[in-house]
Amino acid sequence: MLILGIETSCDETAIGVVEDGRSIRSNVIASQVDLHAAYGGVVPELASRQHVEAIVPVLEEALIRAGVTLGQLDAVAVTYGPGLAGALLVGLNFAKAVAYAAGLPLVPVNHLEGHIYAAWLGRDDEPDFPALVLIVSGGHSDIVLMEGHGRYRRLGQTVDDAAGEAFDKVARLLGLGFPGGPAIDRLAATARPSARLPRARPDGEYDFSFSGLKTRVQRIVRGEEGETPDVAELAAAFQESVVDSLVTKAVRAAEDHDANQIVLSGGVAANTALRAVLRERSRIPVLVPEPVLCTDNGAMIAACGYHRYAAGDIAPLDLDIDPSLKIG
Ligand code: KG4
Ligand code: ZN
Repeated sequence: MLILGIETSCDETAIGVVEDGRSIRSNVIASQVDLHAAYGGVVPELASRQHVEAIVPVLEEALIRAGVTLGQLDAVAVTYGPGLAGALLVGLNFAKAVAYAAGLPLVPVNHLEGHIYAAWLGRDDEPDFPALVLIVSGGHSDIVLMEGHGRYRRLGQTVDDAAGEAFDKVARLLGLGFPGGPAIDRLAATARPSARLPRARPDGEYDFSFSGLKTRVQRIVRGEEGETPDVAELAAAFQESVVDSLVTKAVRAAEDHDANQIVLSGGVAANTALRAVLRERSRIPVLVPEPVLCTDNGAMIAACGYHRYAAGDIAPLDLDIDPSLKIG
C-alpha cells in the first residue's frame, strides 16, 4: 500500500511517499526557515504564498525519489488541521486536486496524530498499547494516552505557551535568532546551567506552563535579578527547566496509566537533552523518531494516513480545514 502524505500546516512544504505505513520511499521537505528568519518568526501570509510556489516541485521530487507515478499510489493523505489557516488551505486544496485528478481516495490527517506515527517510521515492531505520547511542537504540548490506533485520551496540555514556542521566545530574548529550539539546543550543550530556574506547577496534574519561565529569563536578561549570566549558561538553565517539567510529567503519566511505552514526538522532540533525559528516567521503552522525522514532514502524514485509510476514514472532496483541531 503506497500513500502520499502532504503537509503544509506551518512553514514546511513537505510531501512523502510511505509504503505500508512504515517504510519511507521518499520524504521531501522544502523549509521556509530562511524566509521567516528575517522576521523572527513565521509570517502566515508569506508561508501560504511560499507553499503555493513550492508544492508542485515538491510533489514531483517526492514521486521521482520514490520511483512511483501518481497512478501507482493507493491514497492521498493530507493535514487538514491544526495549523495556520492559509497554509493548511494550500495543502488541502492541492491534495484534493491530486486525489480528484488521479482518482484516489482523500484521507484526512490530524497533524498531531501525524507526529505520533513518525515514531514507527522505519521500524518493524507494532505499537505496544497503551502508549503514553508526549507531543511537543511549536504550537502544542500535549500528554496523550494512545489506547489503540486512532484512540486517544488527552491527559494534559500546556496552559499557556507551547514548549517550542517557549524555546523560540527565549531564543529571541537571548538574541539567538529563529527558530530558537535548535539554537538553544546547540548552545546549551556547551555550558552548565547558570542557576536552577523554577518548574511551574499548574493545577492540572499533567499540565504544563512555560510563560512564567520565559518571563523569568527576560528579567535575568534585563539585569533585574543581579548580574546577567553568560548566554550559554542561561540557555542551559532554561532548557534544563523545560526538559525536567516535560519528562517528570510524561514519566508520571505513563506510570499512572500503566503505559507500555512512551512516544516522544513533535519538533521539540529533536532536542538532544529532552531525548537523553527521557530515556534516562523512563523505566519503559521510549520511542523517539530521528530528528528529521520529529519536525514537520510528509512521511509522518502518509504513515498516519495509512492507518486512517485502513479504518475507512475517507474524506469527501468538500472537506474543510480545521485550524484549531485537537487530539483526544
Ligand atoms: O513540529 P514542528 O516542526 O512544527 C509545529 O508543528 O509546530 O515544531 C517546530 C518547533 C519550533 O518551535 C522549534 O523551535 C522546535 O520545534 N524545535 C526544537 C528543536 N528543533 C525544533 N526545540 C528544541 N530543540 C530542538 N533541537
Ligand atoms: Zn508539527
